[in-house]
Amino acid sequence: MTVERPRRLRRHAAVRDLAAETTLLPRHLIMPYFVTSQPDERTPVASLPGVARLGVNQLLSELERAAKAGIRAVMLFGVLQEDRKDASGSSAEDPNGPVPTALRAAREAFGQDLTLMTDVCLCAHTDHGHCGVLASGPHGATVDNDASLPRLAAMAAVHAGAGADFVSPSDMMDGRVAAIRAGLDGAGHTDVGIVSYAVKYASAFYGPFRDAAGSAPGGGGETQAWRPPDDRKTYQMDPRNVREARREVELDVREGADMLIVKPAGPYLDVIRSVREQTHLPVVAYHVSGEYAMLEHAAAHGLLDRAAAVRETLIGIRRAGADLILSYHAVTAAEEGWTDA
Ligand code: PBG
Repeated sequence: MTVERPRRLRRHAAVRDLAAETTLLPRHLIMPYFVTSQPDERTPVASLPGVARLGVNQLLSELERAAKAGIRAVMLFGVLQEDRKDASGSSAEDPNGPVPTALRAAREAFGQDLTLMTDVCLCAHTDHGHCGVLASGPHGATVDNDASLPRLAAMAAVHAGAGADFVSPSDMMDGRVAAIRAGLDGAGHTDVGIVSYAVKYASAFYGPFRDAAGSAPGGGGETQAWRPPDDRKTYQMDPRNVREARREVELDVREGADMLIVKPAGPYLDVIRSVREQTHLPVVAYHVSGEYAMLEHAAAHGLLDRAAAVRETLIGIRRAGADLILSYHAVTAAEEGWTDA
């Protein structure tokens, strides 16, 4: 006779709910959007089924949909036309660029019903696609850390001025949280927070995003005398490392970050757990474009039950320790009831 019977806690759905250790609610999800400068544009992204580049008018209707589904926060990524890009990413400071324009419209339409977060990075603004400005180094062209900081700080202040609640630097330059904090405070935006990509790996899973945002590194660069590198390994992290993640967290906390992002999510669940145990700040996991694409394309081919696979994936990320999840599945998951009641 076996006395220990774990199956007693699995007998039916109500019992399983009593014993459940992890929750997934709409308020745990942050929805990313790609925003363009043509107000009525809606261009589907081929590699990301269900995701489109949106002009401000289209964005507003998607935000309405998100808010109705119970989503409390969104992250806006700007998509720039090629003729707005240059070597130093100067359009990042344009107060009439797609993101500041969208922020003003969203703030007016939704007041405080939605938390507005924005990506702060130069890769969508530079003609070479790197997240900072380039300089000539001993090993050829390199991304110049300190020369990139003033532009990132200025970009963040423009977003704050247009209504962002949080700015979210994804560039992985050293010292940018401190530079952005000083820039925000100097411009009077002491209440605008920083959601820092403290732990961002040089990952193979960003490919579809780079299609969507037109931000692949190494292209363009005609204005440079030297060929830019075609990967981001000199600034994004090596996938083999976790102690390095804890070091990055330590630095960003010290520099004044308000929340921390770990990215990607699925292949880095151990890192999410480690960071959750290290810090008191909210931890956000970014379930990135390649992770979304794998699930969606597999489901479209009938290989997976889409709802069950997405739910299990997001629950796994929560169970690993993420407080919040940035995911292209956010709105669908909330709408379709793939989250808890
Ligand atoms: C750019 C940026 C990237 C992503 C978010 N911000 C791409 C990159 O670093 O090349 C990827 C997000 C995704 O794949 O969904 N700084």
